[in-house]
Amino acid sequence: MITRKTQEEINKMHKAGKLLASCHKEISKRIEPGTTTLEIDQFVEAYLKKHGATPEQKGYQGYQFATCASINDVVCHGFPSPTPLREGDIVTIDFVVNLDGWLADSAWSYAVGKVSENGLRLMKTTKEALYKGIEHAKVGNRIGHIANAIEVFAKAKRYSVVRDFIGHGIGSMMHEPPLVPHFGPIEQGPVLEEGMIITIEPMLNCGSFHTYVEEDGWTARTVDGELSAQYEHTVAITNNGPIILTDQDS
Ligand code: MF3
Ligand code: CO
Repeated sequence: MITRKTQEEINKMHKAGKLLASCHKEISKRIEPGTTTLEIDQFVEAYLKKHGATPEQKGYQGYQFATCASINDVVCHGFPSPTPLREGDIVTIDFVVNLDGWLADSAWSYAVGKVSENGLRLMKTTKEALYKGIEHAKVGNRIGHIANAIEVFAKAKRYSVVRDFIGHGIGSMMHEPPLVPHFGPIEQGPVLEEGMIITIEPMLNCGSFHTYVEEDGWTARTVDGELSAQYEHTVAITNNGPIILTDQDS
């Protein structure tokens, strides 16, 4: 069953989302060659603690870290590591904030120093694809409107859309129904109603959409070693249109 959140619940998730967004802004200042993603992970955990929140991913199905840190051909679920970031890397930092029992989820790709034209174009297009999807997160539309808008946009820009990992409903639990794919026909999935809260989190690849998971059971990579980027927001469906609960600009 898809839960529809009350205005009070949406407000609580918005508070979690605003904290998450402010943390991403702090992360962006710290991303540079030489920084490690383990340092970023520790920063995030301390920052959330300071603000009375906890990192929901830590301990989730045995996951050991506050954040996922996915570099270059890592699509998602990379482990934070003590290896320094290198000039030209693309790193996606993804985490879930729990504030007073209500959650928000947002991933952001960052350029480390000077990134290739190729990499920058992938990042820009992936972010645009996220916002194309959000435009369609309206009462009366189907999940498929979001999914299709993202896929059509990505294909026009000659990128593939990852199929093995998708968005989801979110509330007091990280993963709730509905499933939110970023590809496929408009007719798929449930009709969006007032009060539903979902993540939209497209991963776009320069090469094939196929991925594989490493022996560690988490790290997902592109099969061809090509670059992947991801942007994710938590979005509330309302009669006044989509509200981005993890917006960094408001
Ligand atoms: N934040 C992720 C998402 O977008 C979930 C990460 S899996 C975890 O759905 F185990 F690391 F939590
Ligand atoms: Co996430």
